[in-house]
Amino acid sequence: MSIVVTGATGNLGRHVVEQLLEKVPAEQVTAVVRSPEKAADLAERGVRLAVADYNAPETFDGLFAAGDKVLLISGNEFDKGRVRQHRVVIEAAKAAGVALLAYTSALGTLTAALADDHRGTEKALLASGVPYVLLRNGWYHEVYTENLAPVLEHGAVVAAAGEGRVSSAARADYAAAAVAVLTGEGHENKTYELGGDEAWSLSEYAAELSRQTGREIAYKPVTVEELTGVLTGAGLPGPMAAVFAGVDLSIEKGELVVTSGDLARLTGRPTTPLADAVAAALKG
Ligand SMILES: NC(=O)c1ccc[n+]([C@@H]2O[C@H](COP(=O)([O-])OP(=O)(O)OC[C@H]3O[C@@H](n4cnc5c(N)ncnc54)[C@H](OP(=O)(O)O)[C@@H]3O)[C@@H](O)[C@H]2O)c1
Repeated sequence: MSIVVTGATGNLGRHVVEQLLEKVPAEQVTAVVRSPEKAADLAERGVRLAVADYNAPETFDGLFAAGDKVLLISGNEFDKGRVRQHRVVIEAAKAAGVALLAYTSALGTLTAALADDHRGTEKALLASGVPYVLLRNGWYHEVYTENLAPVLEHGAVVAAAGEGRVSSAARADYAAAAVAVLTGEGHENKTYELGGDEAWSLSEYAAELSRQTGREIAYKPVTVEELTGVLTGAGLPGPMAAVFAGVDLSIEKGELVVTSGDLARLTGRPTTPLADAVAAALKG
């Protein structure tokens, strides 16, 4: 019996494995990776590596064992059919008879196109009959704080979210929730709506940046079309830029506000304040 984490060399996966190692012996953890060289440090610490790719179903043959608890971290290849990719993992988990398959999904309130793959994956997971947990993650703080360079350069936060609010939290918080589910009991067939304790607006984010940098940083609201143009100009392919810009419309409509309290309840502690994530990012 192992706790198996896909996407283990990604940003969220790294946090999950790190936090798992604080709770269970390394030999009980399996990291599913595409590039073992990216996970050499984990192997050195005794974590079992399994090399597999969502695009190659045969690489998942025999990867899981009966009784495993699996975290399927959603992929980031938006153009490669993520539902089909995730279904490969679901089918392998079903064939093995895993005890639990947790999936990092999107908030149930999110209607933006970005949520489509998540709804499709949830449907496949529920239809599989595998004991599941839906970890419906809200926005990461890092979506903003890892993109500070243009904000600082232009002294402006450019977004199409109006005065909408976001209950974001740190990746480490969402990882802690996943670890609680993977190492705890009683989570079978539960859906968690996960988000930060405090919702904030883009104006408040700009004000926090101003406070911490000592510079005037303003929120510049734009339309979704204008934002799509900005993102395309920054090098994102057109369709992807439109999908990301579309999330701002969901923010304006309040679809990324989370009031469930599930994240703090699962982790047993308050979520990381946005101000802390800003401070960490500015420290670089
Ligand atoms: N809630 C939010 O705010 C938010 C924001 C961005 C993304 N997300 C979603 O949450 C996921 C995790 O976030 P993150 O920050 O950890 O993203 P990330 O750093 O981009 O990590 C994505 C992980 O998926 C793995 N992956 C992608 N395609 C794969 C494939 N074909 N086969 C096997 N593994 C594959 C990557 O493997 P490699 O390490 O080999 O590249 C990587 O480990 C993202 O993939 C995305 O679906 C959520």
